[in-house]
Amino acid sequence: MSKRKIGIIGAGYIGSLHATVLARDERVEVIAVHDAISDRAEKLARTIGATVYMSAGELIEVSDAVYIATPNTEHTELALAGIRAGKHIFCEKPLATSLDDARLILEAASQRESVFQVGFNRRFAPVYRLLKEMLTETPPHSAHVKMNRGELLNPAWVGDPRLTGGFLYETTIHMFDLLRFLFGDIICLDVAGSMHEYTEMDDFSCLLRFASGMHATLASSADASWMFPYERIEVFCHHATIATREAERITASHAVDGRYMTQTMQQLSKEEKWGYWQEDRAFVDAIIADRPAAVTVDDGFKAVELVDACYRAARTNERIYCK
Ligand SMILES: NC(=O)c1ccc[n+]([C@@H]2O[C@H](COP(=O)([O-])OP(=O)(O)OC[C@H]3O[C@@H](n4cnc5c(N)ncnc54)[C@H](O)[C@@H]3O)[C@@H](O)[C@H]2O)c1
Repeated sequence: MSKRKIGIIGAGYIGSLHATVLARDERVEVIAVHDAISDRAEKLARTIGATVYMSAGELIEVSDAVYIATPNTEHTELALAGIRAGKHIFCEKPLATSLDDARLILEAASQRESVFQVGFNRRFAPVYRLLKEMLTETPPHSAHVKMNRGELLNPAWVGDPRLTGGFLYETTIHMFDLLRFLFGDIICLDVAGSMHEYTEMDDFSCLLRFASGMHATLASSADASWMFPYERIEVFCHHATIATREAERITASHAVDGRYMTQTMQQLSKEEKWGYWQEDRAFVDAIIADRPAAVTVDDGFKAVELVDACYRAARTNERIYCK
């Protein structure tokens, strides 16, 4: 079978990471790169032997599947163009930066047979896969969660809400998706948000309730310094605690005598530890097997819904109920 042709739009950090991972998958060939800054496209294209296209439209035309790896507010138009051209799409998170845009993509993608995957890589990270597996044997009662960033300075656009949609769309959306993946649907949120270092709300404390009856706290700060670990999930079960430390390590205590076990993922490469390698394989698997993506456009939409609800709760100081 001939190799599937992949085009990458956005030759920055994550576009280059996907291109490098895909270059090792013999079922595909990254043939095309486009970036608003042509030097960046040329640099990436040189390293993987691809051709630079000066417009996104031309790249979409020559590709079977398209990766969208541009800043957040640039996703909608590109995703819609790719869907309408009948191409398979891998869209980096967030799917979009407003409910209206997310709905447009959801509706357009739902009318097509092609694969649409959203870049929630943490669902594939071994540490979170293992946590999910442990939770099937030890049902969770509650959780205490954090997801921080050290700053919103690098790359420069992450501090510009006109390009990110806001800190929650840029960073915390990963955790909203992961919490759905681990614990099921969130039914309501109480949120306090405040503004300190940037021109937007940059610190949040949330109380989340789930359809299962479980509840969780989520803290997310954009100016926390890069003190490791930036993200951590502690789950409390029947006389048990399971805690993750970044994507590095998981520790579980299932006894009341203080004994615990730790499993580390430190030996894995960054791409595998964070699930990038697995998510790219899963995207190609779905294309070849002609089946839905492992992380669907609906998952992308629901994460946008949660971020939107979180901002509304923080702005109004009211409890927001999710549909
Ligand atoms: N899943 C993850 O873990 C993860 C990690 C990092 C970034 N991301 C997401 O990936 C996207 C890109 O982030 P990044 O860190 O790679 O940013 P980046 O700044 O490193 O790269 C973005 C690239 O897009 C180019 N660009 C901007 N507008 C464009 C347009 N309209 N058309 C074509 N090219 C355009 C820029 O010139 C730049 O080279 C963002 O949506 C971000 O949220 C996801």
